[in-house]
Amino acid sequence: NDDQFKKVISHAKEYGYVFQSSEIYDGLSAVYDYAQNGAELKKNIRDYWWKAMVQMHDNIVGIDAAIFMHPTTWKASGHVDAFSDPLIDNKDSKKRYRADVLVEDYCLKIEAKIDKEVAKAAKRFGETFNKEEFLATNGRVLGYQEKIDTILKRLGKSLEAEDLADVKALIEELEIACPLSGSRNWTDVKQFNLMFGTKLGATAETAMDLYLRPETAQGIFVNFLNVQKTGRMKIPFGIAQTGKAFRNEIVARQFIFRMREFEQMEMQFFIKPGTQKKWFEHWKETRMKWHLSLGMGQDNYRFHDHEKLAHYADAATDIEFKFPFGFKELEGIHSRTDFDLKQHEEFSGKKLQYFDHEDNASYTPYVLETSIGLDRMFLAVFSNALVEEELDNNTTRTVLKLPAVLAPVKAAIFPLVKKDGLPEVAKQIVEDLKWDFNVFYDEKDAVGKRYRRQDANGTPFCITVDHDTLTDNTVTIRHRDTMEQKRVAISDLKDIIKKEVDV
Ligand code: GAP
Repeated sequence: NDDQFKKVISHAKEYGYVFQSSEIYDGLSAVYDYAQNGAELKKNIRDYWWKAMVQMHDNIVGIDAAIFMHPTTWKASGHVDAFSDPLIDNKDSKKRYRADVLVEDYCLKIEAKIDKEVAKAAKRFGETFNKEEFLATNGRVLGYQEKIDTILKRLGKSLEAEDLADVKALIEELEIACPLSGSRNWTDVKQFNLMFGTKLGATAETAMDLYLRPETAQGIFVNFLNVQKTGRMKIPFGIAQTGKAFRNEIVARQFIFRMREFEQMEMQFFIKPGTQKKWFEHWKETRMKWHLSLGMGQDNYRFHDHEKLAHYADAATDIEFKFPFGFKELEGIHSRTDFDLKQHEEFSGKKLQYFDHEDNASYTPYVLETSIGLDRMFLAVFSNALVEEELDNNTTRTVLKLPAVLAPVKAAIFPLVKKDGLPEVAKQIVEDLKWDFNVFYDEKDAVGKRYRRQDANGTPFCITVDHDTLTDNTVTIRHRDTMEQKRVAISDLKDIIKKEVDV
C-alpha cells in the first residue's frame, strides 16, 4: 500500500541506500544514485545472480559488452522501428501522457463509476437487484468499456497511423464522458522512441549517431560466435552479462521500479531449434528456485504467461513479485527463437551459425532468455525486508530483515563502553573479520541504541565486547531477527557468521 511504499522510500534515503540523483539541483526524474549501503546491497544481489548463473553452470560464461554498439545493431534488433510508446500531449496543461496509460486511467475511472452506480442501484432495489441485468440495460458506460478493451489490445502491438487517430478520438470521447485531465485540447498521438541518442566522434561532419543500449541482450547476440569459438562452447550453452541499460521512459514513477538508467542481469541460452519448449520450462523452474532460495516468501511470487507476444518471441512469461504497490513484473523469461541471430546475419552479412558435430549439420541456434532488472530486484528485496515489529515491552522496532547473504554489513562490532581497553579489543576483532566480511565499528551512544541502528540498517549480527571479554576472550553475539544473544568465543566468530552469510 501507499504508506508502506512511502516508508520504503524514506528508509532507503535515511539509511544510505538510495538517493535522488543530483538532489542539490532538485533531482532528475526517474534517475537515482545508490549510496554507501545501497551500492553494497546491489553488488551482493549481482554477485548472488552471477554465482548461480555463471559460476554454478559449466556451460554458461559471462561477458561484459560495451554500452555503445554499432547503430545498425538497433536496426537489426527492431528497436529503431518498434521500440516506442504512443504519446499524446494536452495542449492546455502542456502535460504529456503515454496514450495507453491514459486510456487505462480512464478505464479505471469508468470502472469506479460503474461500481458506484451498481452499489447505488443495489441499495435501491434490495433483494430484487440483478447486477448482470442492470449492467445490460445501462449500456452507455459499458459501451466505453468495450471500446477501451479493443483499443488497449491494439496498443500492445505496433500501431498504424489510423490506429493512432482512433486512440486520439477515443481519448477525446472519454474526456467528455468521464473528465480526467480537465481539458479537451489534445495533440495527435505520436510514436515516441524510447532509445536515448548520442553522438560518437569529434567533428560535426564525422560524428556518428549512436544509441545508448536499451537492453544488454544485443551485446550477447553480436558476440555469439566469438564466445562460442574461443570458449569452445557446445550447444546448449549460455552467455550471461550484467550492465546498464537506458530507456527514455515517459511514465517514470514508482521510485526505482521504472528508471531511465538502470541495470539488467541477462542470460541468453543457445539451443537446438525444436527444443525451446523444454528449455523454456527448465529456465522458468530454475529462475523461480533462485528467487525462492532467498527466503522472501513463496506467496510473494507468481508467473504471468503472456498472451500477446513480442515480435521475436514464441513463448514468454514474467516472474511477478508482490511489491508494495501490488504484483508487478520482476523478471522476464522469453523464448526468442532464432529471430535475433537471423536479423544480425541479414544486417551484417556474416553467418552466425553453429556446426553441430553430432548431427553433422549447421544451424542458427534458438535462444532462451532470462532477463531481470537489478534495480527492481533491489526494490523487491528492500521493500520485503522492511518491517515494524511490536515488541513485548509495548515498543516497536524498525528492522530491515535482508537475507544475510545480501546484507551490506554482515556484522557490527561494539565496545560496551568507550574505556578500559574495550575499544582496542573490539577494533582488533574488526581487523580480523574484515578479511572475510564487510564489518562496521561503532562506539557512539548506548548499546541498545546501537543495536536498533543496526536493525534498521539490516545488519544480521551485532558483536559486543564487555569487561568479561578481557578475561575469557568471549563476546556477546546478537542476532538481528530473533534478538537472541549468546556468549561465544572470539575465535568462533568467523565460523558463526560464515554459516549464515555464505551461499
Ligand atoms: N532483453 C529483454 C528485455 O530487455 P524487458 O522485459 O524489456 O526485456 C527485462 O526487460 C527486465 O528489465 C524487466 O523484467 C525489468 O526487471 C527490467 N526493466 C525493464 N525496464 C526497466 C526500467 N525502466 N527500470 C528498471 N528496470 C527495468
